[in-house]
Amino acid sequence: MAGYITDDTRKVTTHRLLEMKQKGEKISMLTSYDYTTAQIVDGAGIDVILVGDSASNVMAGNVTTLPITLDQMIYHGKSVVRAAKRALVVVDMPFGSYQGNPLEGVASAIRIMKESHADALKLEGGEEIIDTVKRIISAGIPIMGHLGLMPQSINKYGTYTVRAKEDAEAEKLVRDAHLLEEAGCFGLVLEKIPARLAARVAKELSIPVIGIGAGGDVDGQVLVVADMLGMTNGFSPRFLRRYADLHTVMTDAIGRYVSDVKSGDFPNEKEQY
Ligand code: KIV
Repeated sequence: MAGYITDDTRKVTTHRLLEMKQKGEKISMLTSYDYTTAQIVDGAGIDVILVGDSASNVMAGNVTTLPITLDQMIYHGKSVVRAAKRALVVVDMPFGSYQGNPLEGVASAIRIMKESHADALKLEGGEEIIDTVKRIISAGIPIMGHLGLMPQSINKYGTYTVRAKEDAEAEKLVRDAHLLEEAGCFGLVLEKIPARLAARVAKELSIPVIGIGAGGDVDGQVLVVADMLGMTNGFSPRFLRRYADLHTVMTDAIGRYVSDVKSGDFPNEKEQY
C-alpha cells in the first residue's frame, strides 16, 4: 500500500511544528469531525487534525460555517481528541464566540479547552481581533490564526473567490500576519490567496504558515478530509486534489447492500446465530 509511514509516535506539539518549519520539513494537516475518521487520519501519520467549523457544511449540511454553535464544536472536538494519539488537535472557534470582545473570546476559548481537551484553537481575522488573540494566549491557550478567505465573513465578501489579489488587501494581509505572530500565535492558515503572496508571508514569518489554495511555497498544507477523499460531490475548486472517490465506493457498497437485503441474500446462514 502506497502511503506515508512514520515510526515517530511522539505526540506532535506546537514546538515540534516550529522545528519542522526551521528544518524545512512540510507540515500535513487535515480536518476531522468524528472519532472514526480521526482514528484513520491520525493512524495515517497526519501532523495536525483541524476540527474545522467546516463541520457546519460537511456534517450538518449548512450553506455556510456561521450556524455551528460552541456546544457543537465542543462535541466534535471531544470526539476527535479521543481518537488522536499523535496529531496535534486544533479546534476552530465558531462564529459569534469571540468577535464581540476579548472577555467573551477568552470565556469561549476556555470552555472549548476545558470540555474538549483540544491542544489548541484557531480563529479568523487580524487587527480587528488582535486584543482577543492576546487575551486568549495570555490564558495559556495556543492560537492559530486564519487570514485570506475567512468563511465566517462570507456575508461581508459575498463570494468565495480568491482574496487579496489587489495591493491594498494584500498589504493588509501581510500586516495582519505580522500582528498575529507578534501577538504570540504558533501558526497561521492562509486560505485561497495568490501563491506569491502566501510565499512572501511564509518567508517573512518565523511561525509555520499552512496553506489551503495558497500554493506550495508555504510550510504545510490543509484540506477538508471529505473533499480530498471524494465524499463530497460537485465541489471542485482548482486547489483541491482528490485522493479517492469514496462517493462512488460508498454508493456502490450501499447499493449492493440494498439489493442483497431485498433479494434475501443478506444475511446468509453464517451471518446469523
Ligand atoms: O473549517 C475549516 O475546515 C478550515 C480549513 C478550510 C482551513 O478552516
